[in-house]
Amino acid sequence: MKNNDKNRKPTAIDFIARKKQGIKIPSLSLYDAPTAKFAVECGIDLLLVGDSLGMTMLGYENTIPVRLEDVLMHAAAVRRGAESAFVVADMPFMTYQISPEKAMENAARFLQTAGSDGVKLEGGVKMAKTAARLVGAGVPVMGHIGLLPQNVLTEGGYRKVGKNQDERRCLLDDAKSIEDAGAFCIILECIEDETAAIISESLNIPAIGIGSGKSCDGQIQVVTDILGISDFIPKHAKTYLNLADEIKKAFSRYASDVASSS
Ligand code: KIV
Repeated sequence: MKNNDKNRKPTAIDFIARKKQGIKIPSLSLYDAPTAKFAVECGIDLLLVGDSLGMTMLGYENTIPVRLEDVLMHAAAVRRGAESAFVVADMPFMTYQISPEKAMENAARFLQTAGSDGVKLEGGVKMAKTAARLVGAGVPVMGHIGLLPQNVLTEGGYRKVGKNQDERRCLLDDAKSIEDAGAFCIILECIEDETAAIISESLNIPAIGIGSGKSCDGQIQVVTDILGISDFIPKHAKTYLNLADEIKKAFSRYASDVASSS
């Protein structure tokens, strides 16, 4: 089922209404205009320009080297490809952690320069004050809790969270603090299924899961994972197409046509 009238761009409030109506929200993290256009044509109207672009598009090992300018450029491309989608720009490492003022300045660039509709930042209780300042200034905020890729250097890797009572309590506090700050939705990344279900149930805003089980109010996936062109595809991603093989077949045919002057 398509979620909406393709010609009307949804607002942040619409996503909260979809949760109330029990409409599940499919979302994609993607980086370019043509792919964004395909997504909207298929009824996917909540698009994230994730800082995962560091690994998927720019060849970095993690998201740490991604700069504000990198996401700005890709967010503007996604905007041009998908005028009727709600486009969220992921705030890169150290563009919002320094101070709420710095976060406001940088968020403004996404809304004013790239035409984004909102921003995403990683963190729960620790980021609630910054999220509240942004929302208070009129910036729609998507939260992100659980596995936080921007913490990879301090955490020493990526792992599923929320497996014990202490972690569950902390995650619930994180989720609540971001909701109380006024965020319109929240990403739950790699949270143990039952914990994610409890968090989703306890919030009024939609919880969009990735690697967090089926009970969330929606799901988000990284486009290169579901198309089969990522170097590393996480366990939680279903690959709907083996695009890497198709691209290689096409390139080989092209190279041999050139070689044979045909
Ligand atoms: O950067 C990204 O693509 C993300 C999603 C995985 C939620 O943060």
